[in-house]
Amino acid sequence: MKESILHELYDSKNFQKQSERLLALVSLHLEASLSGQKQKTLTWNEPENELRFWKDFLEKGNEEDFFSEILNRTTHTHNPKYVGHQVGVTAPITLLTGMLSHLLNNGMAVYEMGMSPNAIERIVTEKLCKTVGYGSSSGGFLTSGGTLANLTALLSARKAKVLHDVWNEGHIRPLGIMVCEEAHYCVDRAAKIMGLGEQGIIKIPADENFAMDIEKLEEYHQKNTAKGIQIFAIVGSAPSTATGAYDNLEAIQRFAEKHNLWFHVDGAHGGAAIFSEKYKHLLKGAEKSDSMVIDGHKMLMMPTITTALLFKNKAHSNHTFSQKADYLLNETEEDEWYNSGRRTFECTKNMMCLHWYILLKLYGEKAFDAYVTRQYDLAKEFARIIKEEGNFELAVEPMSNILCFRYVLSDLSLKESNSLNQSIRQGLLEDGEFYLVQTKLNGIHYLRTTLMNPFTTTEHLIALLEKIKTSAKKLIASQVS
Ligand SMILES: Cc1ncc(COP(=O)(O)O)c(C=O)c1O
Repeated sequence: MKESILHELYDSKNFQKQSERLLALVSLHLEASLSGQKQKTLTWNEPENELRFWKDFLEKGNEEDFFSEILNRTTHTHNPKYVGHQVGVTAPITLLTGMLSHLLNNGMAVYEMGMSPNAIERIVTEKLCKTVGYGSSSGGFLTSGGTLANLTALLSARKAKVLHDVWNEGHIRPLGIMVCEEAHYCVDRAAKIMGLGEQGIIKIPADENFAMDIEKLEEYHQKNTAKGIQIFAIVGSAPSTATGAYDNLEAIQRFAEKHNLWFHVDGAHGGAAIFSEKYKHLLKGAEKSDSMVIDGHKMLMMPTITTALLFKNKAHSNHTFSQKADYLLNETEEDEWYNSGRRTFECTKNMMCLHWYILLKLYGEKAFDAYVTRQYDLAKEFARIIKEEGNFELAVEPMSNILCFRYVLSDLSLKESNSLNQSIRQGLLEDGEFYLVQTKLNGIHYLRTTLMNPFTTTEHLIALLEKIKTSAKKLIASQVS
């Protein structure tokens, strides 16, 4: 009797029925979202109400409604009015590779549990290394997210650059890394996880464009070395998260070489520009980096999570988690590329290489070029439109597809202006037609867009500005009355 539930659970006919229903819903969803027929990008609900809904649904909901409720109660990245966070607008074919990965559940850590995916992952990462401009000693792997990849790269850096065997014996002297204050918070988190402490994360101030101020590098290096900190790595953002500003990677690379530092490029968002003929110049210098992260699930239209961590010298990736000290390792002995778990933080992982491979196989690198180039061009066009408007101000000229701006009125104080922009954004969230986010830069509150959807046009962006103007006027009128 008890076993019958297991038969039901694994019934392939049942599965077919359920999946046909879901595929029909998903296809409708895609069509309505991409074509802009769907008025809303999200239907806002307060967290407590959402929690109550799903508690009730578990007790009393109709199981037939589950898929449609999920679709209705989430944020729709496929809607061209989605201009919010940096998550990829998934190419539909990757839903199918995702399904295969989940069905087979080959965890990939050892070759037998992922023969094809281990081979495919090698092909994908070698192609990426070549496109970055790395030489024949390069290699890499896929891992679960930019956050984890940045941590892994810094662990590799420590193993390679710190002569003392920290992995086995712990710290015997203070260690540190250098990074721009505008870098993604996960670099700070990685340093803390590694036990570097607050003093071990040396934050270089940003320049007026929110990129690392290269002029400050020597001063900060000298100051912190004099305190007894051994600095072993420097991280360049390509680009940083809040404003999308690319650090000057060439200058950072020269500095790293001079001081024998590991140079890591956090290209989680914009490393994808290696594929853009027009914008790959932004990554100049990355070809000489020691390691680099690129997220497929941001700027390459893949689902979460599809991060590539690439190394100029793949031997380093074999040593990161090795129990032996770096100098004892023999490269060939360790180069078991087909047992990918030896090099990754995680043991079990998704067969994320399938998404990369199918897109390369079906559409080729030109699809990545077309996407990145279009989105970066669109941000420049949006900036031009904003500058022509009387009541809007850009935080900085966009270098990528991230663009921050705010509504301004000359007679408002900074506090009032911040509060107005905050209220505008809250109003937009509750309205749900557009989805955009917000950020604070040097104490100033900005509306922040990341132009992720390949079907967002300038007409959508002009409509967004009109909506903001209307909202601002209403908010101001309500304060006056
Ligand atoms: C520059 C940068 N690095 C790292 C990350 C973290 O990547 P993930 O979300 O894949 O962990 C982000 C996320 O937005 C990012 O923008």
